[in-house]
Amino acid sequence: MEEKEWDKLASKYHDEVISPFFGEVENPLQGELRKIKDKKKKNVAEFGCGLFYLGEKLSNMFKQVHASDFSKEMVKKAIERNKSIIKKSGNLNIIQEDIREIHYKNKFDVIISVNSLLMPSLDDLKIAFNNLFESLKPKGTCFMILPSMESVIYHGHLLLHRELGKHDEKTAKKKAKVKFEHHKYDLFTGHYEDGGEKQKFYYKHEIKQFMKKAGFKDIEISKVKYSWGKEISDYEDFPEEPRLWDWFVKAKK
Ligand SMILES: C[S@@+](CC[C@H](N)C(=O)[O-])C[C@H]1O[C@@H](n2cnc3c(N)ncnc32)[C@H](O)[C@@H]1O
Repeated sequence: MEEKEWDKLASKYHDEVISPFFGEVENPLQGELRKIKDKKKKNVAEFGCGLFYLGEKLSNMFKQVHASDFSKEMVKKAIERNKSIIKKSGNLNIIQEDIREIHYKNKFDVIISVNSLLMPSLDDLKIAFNNLFESLKPKGTCFMILPSMESVIYHGHLLLHRELGKHDEKTAKKKAKVKFEHHKYDLFTGHYEDGGEKQKFYYKHEIKQFMKKAGFKDIEISKVKYSWGKEISDYEDFPEEPRLWDWFVKAKK
């Protein structure tokens, strides 16, 4: 999805986007941010901040906060949402910029990207990972949340096994594939395409590749776990089964 598509989503964000900041989500980010020492002497940046739900927290925790998004509408809404904090704290700056075009060098102690590296081009992603690495200070920490391809496939298998309980194997596979929207996924490259819009999902091994190639070290990958029900939008529910997830990434420069 490009800038204009995100512009359209800015006003109906909650209906369309599954968020790791709302509901009963198990999200390691808050705990990890709390563990960072001397935050009042440090600066932080969130790239692809959307409506910037982290605004108040980051502003209270850190000395200086930079937030950006390539969608003009998202930036407008993020400034609106955070205007009292911007005024009160004086340490918060929200601007429009594309992660593929930033040129910061060793600037931030901590950088955050939450489900913002979704562009389909692998070349663009390589540039984005490199740019994030360059923008981080030596020994700085990077936190990312990235959509999990394994979680999508896991959900597909839950669908398949539900159908196997109701039909013969051939019918069950056919029905599960339809529900899974099999034709919309490229399971090799990790892409989902719907109505001409394409989004990237990540295999865990692939995240390690991107991160290592960009220069990151001490790469730790865990899960952001979503609750069944409303939090996973129109995905079919399996409340008795382990939950769906995004990847949570912590790495150092
Ligand atoms: C799923 S939303 C997440 C927003 C926010 N991080 C959150 O979790 O609430 C993805 C955001 O990334 C932004 N984005 C996507 N590609 C981008 C790029 N190349 N440069 C900057 N922002 C980008 C979109 O405009 C959108 O606001």
